[in-house]
Amino acid sequence: MTQSMKTIALALVLIAAACGGSKPAASGSKGKTSAMDAMGLTPPDSPWEAMSVADREFYMIGKVNPIMQELFAAHDAEEYGDFDCVDCHGEEMREIEFRMPAPSMYIVPPEGTPGHRGMLSTFPEEVKFMQEVVTPGMGKLLGIENYTCAGCHPSEAPKRKKAKKAAAPKRKRAKPKG
Ligand code: HEC
Ligand code: HEC
Repeated sequence: MTQSMKTIALALVLIAAACGGSKPAASGSKGKTSAMDAMGLTPPDSPWEAMSVADREFYMIGKVNPIMQELFAAHDAEEYGDFDCVDCHGEEMREIEFRMPAPSMYIVPPEGTPGHRGMLSTFPEEVKFMQEVVTPGMGKLLGIENYTCAGCHPSEAPKRKKAKKAAAPKRKRAKPKG
């Protein structure tokens, strides 16, 4: 092998290692290149709205997920040591084609309701982290201004059904105003 071929081969090995999605991340992730340092909270090259689903998935894998892994682990390494796609998209993510907000996510009640006050007293730390880090961070990564909780969390309970019907068609009923 020539020197440059060796360099490329090594780079490919490193990339393969970095992309080993199913492998658990090494526990002491210090010393690894930080995704945040390498890429930062910057928007995609082309507007999110204009990206194909395939490009969006690629962007999630290459940038959103690794950066969010770092943010969540920095917040609570024990709880979020193995943070991944599924934490935002839910177990059913492939069935629902990564649609957001995932119906299985924690429901954030509308502001001003007793439910919202209950959330604030039950999850003060989580809410602070969500407000100060996660929500603005996601907005920056997508290049979308005023990103809200509703980007990831449903704001009302899904219709309860005991038997899970596979991919129930969306209701035709108009959404409630506001
Ligand atoms: C921190 C939360 C978070 C993580 C982690 C995350 N995503 Fe996402 N993803 C989102 C949000 C939010 C959207 C929707 C953005 C919007 O349109 O407002 C999205 C959108 C997508 C879309 C586009 C769906 C569509 O139809 O437009 C795909 C595909 C996707 N994610 C795949 C993945 C994969 C694969 C991973 C893991 C490698 C991942 N995501 C990790 C939050 C996350
Ligand atoms: C980019 C996606 C994203 C956004 C935006 C977001 N969250 Fe979250 N939120 C998450 C993820 C991921 C978790 C952890 C889920 C888990 O434990 O697997 C979480 C957890 C929570 C929890 C803890 C729930 C529990 O059962 O432990 C609360 C409360 C919460 N979020 C509230 C909010 C509020 C309020 C906002 C808006 C200010 C918000 N979130 C915005 C992704 C998001």
